[in-house]
Amino acid sequence: MGDREQEFVKEAFDTNWIAPVGPHVDAFEQEFCQVTGAAHAAAVSSGTAALHLALQLIGVGYGSEVICSTLTFAASANPITYLGAKPVFIDSDRISWNMNPDLLQEALEQRDRIGKLPKAVVLVHLYGQSADIEPILKVCNQYGIPLIEDAAEALGATYKGRTPGTFGNIGIYSFNGNKIITTSGGGMLVSDDRDLVAKARFLATQARDPAPHYQHSEIGYNYRLSNVLAGIGRGQLQVLNDRVAARRRNYEVYSSALGNLPGIEFMPEASFGNSSRWLTCLTIDPETFGANTEQIRIALAKQQIETRPVWKPLHLQPVFAECECIGGEVAEDLFARGLCLPSGSNLTDTDLKRVIDAILSVYSLVS
Ligand SMILES: Cc1ncc(COP(=O)(O)O)c(C=O)c1O
Repeated sequence: MGDREQEFVKEAFDTNWIAPVGPHVDAFEQEFCQVTGAAHAAAVSSGTAALHLALQLIGVGYGSEVICSTLTFAASANPITYLGAKPVFIDSDRISWNMNPDLLQEALEQRDRIGKLPKAVVLVHLYGQSADIEPILKVCNQYGIPLIEDAAEALGATYKGRTPGTFGNIGIYSFNGNKIITTSGGGMLVSDDRDLVAKARFLATQARDPAPHYQHSEIGYNYRLSNVLAGIGRGQLQVLNDRVAARRRNYEVYSSALGNLPGIEFMPEASFGNSSRWLTCLTIDPETFGANTEQIRIALAKQQIETRPVWKPLHLQPVFAECECIGGEVAEDLFARGLCLPSGSNLTDTDLKRVIDAILSVYSLVS
């Protein structure tokens, strides 16, 4: 937490706005728009809820197909299934680890030929790095497919100077406890379309019709963000730049100490933007390095250092076994060889050195 969060939370208590509505919610939405350049925003209870609403607002429903990045957390695709739709996965490129625009083009061409275009594309910006949005947007526009950007992990990143999540029809962000800024749990839905965002707020508050009594003409959800948590979010927005600087510094320290070891490659930073380096990730070539990612993970765990494999691609997940994937080899390779290092914004030089020394000692044992 930064310096202001408790002040905002205290204000919520003092004014008795302990509800999923209130001045902090409104202010958090406005301030989020100022920070990201989004036109309109709706604060909700999680990134997953934001994605669920986004898909519903786009008109995804039973039997639809929705294209989604395969190298991501399950929450990117789960809401597709909440609506009775089916995900179709697309592999990553090596430049950004995000959706490969050429494979998207291929997928849409093929589906257009059989007259079965998907209802939406969910483009994920992974580990703090933007996907190559322009070519993806171009293909989507060519076929008239709405683009939803899952920027849950990418707040603080840039794409050609702008914030990923603000290019497509709808963007979503997460303020889960592990994200670069957090409200403990929370999310944001953004769009240029004022009416769409108003509709998101309506659906997120049980779709209550404007009437003095309780009247409902649509099924809604209880997805609004609490005013208390929005207070935390307002404080967190003020330290976003510091958090990005801290995360990028983690990367700099790790990569300057380990980047020259044979077989280690850090997640590249694509030329079209700045990564927030939400997580510092690397790949290991086991032949060259002398140990594989799992051996390194276990060696570090013995020293109480937690590392995690890169996301297991969704097309390899048992729950999505029936779903098609266009390509898949890049994501599979990144999963097999990728490792996320400890990346908190509060890591000290001593913490970073401990991680570095642990990896160096694995290397000295195997080299
Ligand atoms: C890529 C991605 N999409 C969606 C989500 C869902 O966000 P939340 O946890 O706020 O529901 C997360 C993180 O949790 C994520 O990493």
